[in-house]
Amino acid sequence: MDPMTPTSPKDRIIFALDVEHFTEARQWVTLLKDRVGIFKVGKQLFTHSGPKVIDMICQKGQKVFLDLKYHDIPNTVAKAGEEATKHQVAVFNLHALGGFEMMKKTVEASKAISKSLNLPRPIILAVTILTSMDEESLQEVGIPGPLIEEVGRLALLSQKAGVDGVVASPQEIGIIRQRCGEKFLIVTPGIRHPSDKKDDQKRTLTPREAIEAGADYLVIGRPIKEAKDPIEAVQKIVEDIS
Ligand code: C5P
Repeated sequence: MDPMTPTSPKDRIIFALDVEHFTEARQWVTLLKDRVGIFKVGKQLFTHSGPKVIDMICQKGQKVFLDLKYHDIPNTVAKAGEEATKHQVAVFNLHALGGFEMMKKTVEASKAISKSLNLPRPIILAVTILTSMDEESLQEVGIPGPLIEEVGRLALLSQKAGVDGVVASPQEIGIIRQRCGEKFLIVTPGIRHPSDKKDDQKRTLTPREAIEAGADYLVIGRPIKEAKDPIEAVQKIVEDIS
């Protein structure tokens, strides 16, 4: 079994720790510990609390997805990737639009440092086109589109650079599987049961639909966080994808 492939339904769930404070993050990790596969730390929580939030999650024996979407010159991102690797995050990500060289250098740096320190190598994911962008905003920044074509092209570029997979909306799973094959990881947000509030997610799939469409991991935040009973909400998701 490929060590990057999730082995149980629970392992496929990435809980988005979209909270501001360390204390609140710790409460969520204590509550959902061993019930989800990975805890995602994003820009707000990391900027507020710093690396101690990663250490807290790791000390509880849980995995971290450091969602900082690095995008800078190759050397800078490679160095940031080394630090993420030293912090023993299970997953971190970067923007494919940072270019082939940036992605390749970061993959190589992360591999080298994990080997020399005898640490597990993190999964590295690329963000292709942010799902907040449409054809018009893409053209504004000089990318001709069509959007779905750019997603497929950037996913393939990141695969060639040695990246392990991408974060992609439910609608993008098909083209990425087609271009990058079965082994390339796909991590999908925008997951909702029909009874859930959609919040700001426009195109959603149920957990089961996303897995059937080819997603390996699901990023889920508010359907768990804002549920009356978050543990029951997680159980419902696990049942749905079992
Ligand atoms: O609360 P919800 O389930 O919508 O949270 C989804 C998480 O996935 C959030 O942390 C959001 O920032 C992230 N995400 C997303 N869409 C993307 C990339 C990341 O919703 N395209």
